[in-house]
Amino acid sequence: MPQHKTSPDSPIGIFDSGIGGLTVVKAVQAALPAERIIYFGDTARVPYGPKSQAAIRRYAREDTEILMKHQPKMIIVACNTVSALALDVVEEAAGQIPVIGVLKAGAELASRRTRSGRIGVIGTQATIGSNAYACAIQEENGSLEVISKACPLFVPLAEEGFIDHDATMLVAEEYLSPLVSKGIDTLVLGCTHYPILKGMIGRIAGPGIDIIDSAEAVAGKARELLSEQGMLNPGHGQAMPHLLVSDLPQKFRELYRLFMGTELPDVELVGV
Ligand code: DGL
Repeated sequence: MPQHKTSPDSPIGIFDSGIGGLTVVKAVQAALPAERIIYFGDTARVPYGPKSQAAIRRYAREDTEILMKHQPKMIIVACNTVSALALDVVEEAAGQIPVIGVLKAGAELASRRTRSGRIGVIGTQATIGSNAYACAIQEENGSLEVISKACPLFVPLAEEGFIDHDATMLVAEEYLSPLVSKGIDTLVLGCTHYPILKGMIGRIAGPGIDIIDSAEAVAGKARELLSEQGMLNPGHGQAMPHLLVSDLPQKFRELYRLFMGTELPDVELVGV
C-alpha cells in the first residue's frame, strides 16, 4: 500500500479527465487560498464520459499514481465520471491518503438543501448511466426522489466558449425542460464543465430551482476534512497551481483562460 509522510504544507492533488476539473481548482483556491495545488488533466484521453467502465477504471488508477508521485496530503477527484465509476480504485491507489470525490460532496449538499424532496441531476452519459448520484442522494435520505438526465452536448458547448449562445440556450431548454416539468427544486451540476454554463442553466431552470455546484461542494468538504485533521496549510498568499497534462493541444491556452480567467502558467507534460 503506498505510504508517504504528509504535512500541512504538502499539496492537495486534484485530477480530472481533462481541463474541466479546473472548475474544482478554482473553487478550492477560493475556499482554501493558502493551499498548494497539483493538478493533473488527462488531456490525451479526454473525454471519459462516453467511455466504458473498464477504461475509466484503468485511467483512474493511472491518474492517481501520477499524483501520488508528488506526495499529496489529499486527493480530490474532480471528474464526476471517475467519482461515479471508479472512486474505489482511486482510494486503493491512494493508500492512506484521504480521497474525496465531487459526487458525494454534491449529493450531500443537494440532500441538505432540497425542500420539496425532488432533486434533478445532470452529467455525462457514464455518470448518469451509473446511477451513482441517485444512490448517493438516497443514501443520505431514502425518501428523496432523483430525476437524472445526461447532457453530453454541454461539454463541447462549454469548451467552445458558447456561454451565452443561442445554440446553448436551445440545447439547455431541450435537456432541462423534462426536469423542470417534474417539479424539482434542486439541480446538481454533476459534471466538471457545467459550472461554466451555470448562468444559462440557472436562467432556463428558473428562480425556484437551487443550483448545486459540485465543485464548490467538494471544496467545502476538503476544507472541513483538512481542518478536522489539523492539516490546513498555515501559509498566506496564493500560489499558482502546478499543472500536469498528458497532452498539450493547440486549444489548451484558450481553454485555461476560459476556465480559470487567468493566463496559462507553466505546464508539465507527463506520459500515460
Ligand atoms: N470531467 C468529466 C466529468 O466531470 C466531463 C468530461 C469528460 O467526459 O471527460 O464527468
